[in-house]
This record gives sequence, C-alpha cells and structure tokens, in this order.
Amino acid sequence: MNANKDRLNLSRRDFIKLLGVAGAAAGGGFLLDTYAPWVDYEKQTAAISKPFLQNTAKPAQILEMVRYATLAANGHNTQPWKFAVKEDGIEIHPDYSRNLPVVDPNDRELWISLGCALENLLVSAYAAGYIPEVTYPDESDFIHIRLSNDTPQKNPLFDAIPVRQNTRSEFDGQAIKKNDLDLVQGLPLEPGVKLHFVTNPTDLEKVEDYVYQGNLNQYADDAFIDELIYWLRFNKKEALATNDGLYSVCSGNPAVPDWLGRLFVASTKPEQQADLDAKKLRSSAGAVVIASELENKSAWVRTGQVYERLALTLTTLDIKSAFLNQPIEVTDLRSQFQNAIGLGTALPQLLVRFGYAETMPRSLRRPVEQVLF
Ligand SMILES: Cc1cc2nc3c(=O)[nH]c(=O)nc-3n(C[C@H](O)[C@H](O)[C@H](O)COP(=O)(O)O)c2cc1C
Repeated sequence: MNANKDRLNLSRRDFIKLLGVAGAAAGGGFLLDTYAPWVDYEKQTAAISKPFLQNTAKPAQILEMVRYATLAANGHNTQPWKFAVKEDGIEIHPDYSRNLPVVDPNDRELWISLGCALENLLVSAYAAGYIPEVTYPDESDFIHIRLSNDTPQKNPLFDAIPVRQNTRSEFDGQAIKKNDLDLVQGLPLEPGVKLHFVTNPTDLEKVEDYVYQGNLNQYADDAFIDELIYWLRFNKKEALATNDGLYSVCSGNPAVPDWLGRLFVASTKPEQQADLDAKKLRSSAGAVVIASELENKSAWVRTGQVYERLALTLTTLDIKSAFLNQPIEVTDLRSQFQNAIGLGTALPQLLVRFGYAETMPRSLRRPVEQVLF
C-alpha cells in the first residue's frame, strides 16, 4: 500500500468536521462498544501502578520488582522485555518480536528501554531489602541482576516509579526553580554517560531546528507512519485489548474509531507535526541530551538507566518531561546535531524536554505474568 497516496491533506479543522460526521454516522452502537463505560481504564492503570507490596515472601517480592520494572519508559510502549526469575536473582532479556525496525533499526532504543526497566528494578530491589549486582550485556544478550539479602534502603525515587510519565502536552513556559535545576544537573551518572543541558534561548532554538527537521523526515516516510500506526491505540477498547502501544488520549488526542484515527495520522502533513513539536519545545523550561561515549548494548542500557533516574528525579520535584528524539533517530541528522550542540565525541542517545505541566492520563502495561519466561 502506498500510504502517501492515501494521505489526504486534511487540516485539523477538516478533521474535526470529519469527526462530527463520523460520530453521527457511527451512532450510539459504536460509541457504547468503543468507549465501553463499563470498562474502567483508570481502574486498570491504577491496578498496574498500585503501591509495592513490601512485607511479603521473597518470590512475591521478586514479582513486585518485575512489575515496577515494567512501569519504566520504553519506545512506543512496545514493552520489549522478558524477565527470567533465577535462583540468584533476575534476568532482563530483549523481546525482539517487539522491536521497531523503522525508527530503531539497530535496537538501540530497545536496549535503552531495557536500561530504563533495569533502573526501576534496582531502585525497588534496594527498597525491598536486597543489594543488586548487575552484569551488563557485554558478552551476553541479557542483563543479569544478582540479589543478596540486606536491610531495606528507601530512596525517594522509589515512590516516583508509579508516578513518572512521559507528558506529551505543552508545558507552562516557566523556568525551573534554581535549586531544583542544580539538583537535577548534579544527578549521579553511569560510567560513559553524560547529560548536556540546554536552557538558554539561542541553544534551544538550535535544538528546535533539528527537531523540526527530524519531524519533516519522519512524517514524510511511509514506513515510519505505518510502524507508528501499528503501535497507536485510538480508543479505550483497542488500548485495553493489548495493554501496550500509544493510546491517543495519553498524548492529549481524542479517542476515535480505529479507521478515523488511522486516516488522521496518515494524513498529517510533516509540517503540521513539526509545528506542534516546535511549540511544545518552546513551552518547555529546557531540554537535556543524554549522550554516551560508546555505541554498544551496555552503553545503551546505562543510557536508559540515566534517563529513568533523571525522569524519576524530575517526578519527585513535580517537573514533567517528554522525549523529542527525532534528530537522533534520523540517521542523517544525528552527527550534525551532535556537532551543532557541542557534544564533542559524545554520541547523542536521547533528547528530553522538561518543565511544569498538568499530569496526563497514564499509559498501560501488560501484567507481570505476560512478561515472564
Ligand atoms: C528509548 C525511548 C525512546 C522514546 N521515544 C519517544 C519519542 O520519540 N517520542 C515520544 O513522545 N515518546 C517517546 N518515548 C516515550 C514512550 O513512548 C513512553 O515511555 C511509553 O509510551 C510509555 O509511557 P510512559 O513513559 O508515560 O509510561 C520513548 C521512550 C524510550 C525509552
């Protein structure tokens, strides 16, 4: 199928009109079925992110650690992980059946996602009374976490795990309080990973140009759009059927019938998307690039850990964050972006904007039984 041909050049106003027509045509039957008022989305997200069950036997604690690990950020909410419970601890394996061959052809972001899950798992292991010891995937294709018994060590990041979210709305344009910014800038890092903060307007404009260009590239690529549509969930029924993917309501878009959502995404002009993200970046207090010295699985895992640590720290300060990875995901832009923002030899891995905003609806996760070997 040539999605380009199928992409109607609809403006947002046309789309809203179309929505009205579609709503009338579809009638109450569809609405009842799709919006399924008897299926409670919030109840489902609350169950997934319920408080950690601490004072329980070790096997139940291990399952709780896995549940907290799955609450981590991950590309397109593919949840590309499988967990193995072993005698001495836990292993996190990649689930390559959930990869993103177009946006992430080298599984770079997939391994970053595993690093995000690892960070949550480590924070919860300390809180549950274990000392975790990590073996990175230098010689293997998985992460091993050995757990030894210790006394519980509470970390403020622990309580932030079920609260953190990728907030895709516009932010309120306010600067971050000086003390809070200092705290975030002093975040403990992982070997070979660094943070490059961008808060002055001239440098932010440079970042905005690259995000704009990245969006133009991605939204002109049919394969990118097809892959995105595959992981989009346009209404509650679709989202709850798989417990994964990107539910439109979590990004501030309305819930609509599947066919209408596809039509809308396929007909989005690259410039429309680029303008939207430029506006979101301009509404942010700043941006931060997470960069690594090396380009291999262990470096990606460590990058994911630093991202998750940063996002959890921001959460404790009531600061929201969201990704704008376009200039890193588009191969031709990545090294230009690296030079333009003065990263030197460090390789940009993730671009995150941050600022103050209201909380958005939470995204779903698959239950623990579905991510265990
Ligand atoms: C490696 C990686 C890349 C991501 N890229 C993007 C992105 O380019 N744009 C975006 O809006 N979200 C991006 N995300 C965020 C995920 O879509 C988000 O974590 C996932 O949908 C789960 O939602 P939550 O973080 O709110 O729990 C990325 C996350 C990771 C870990």
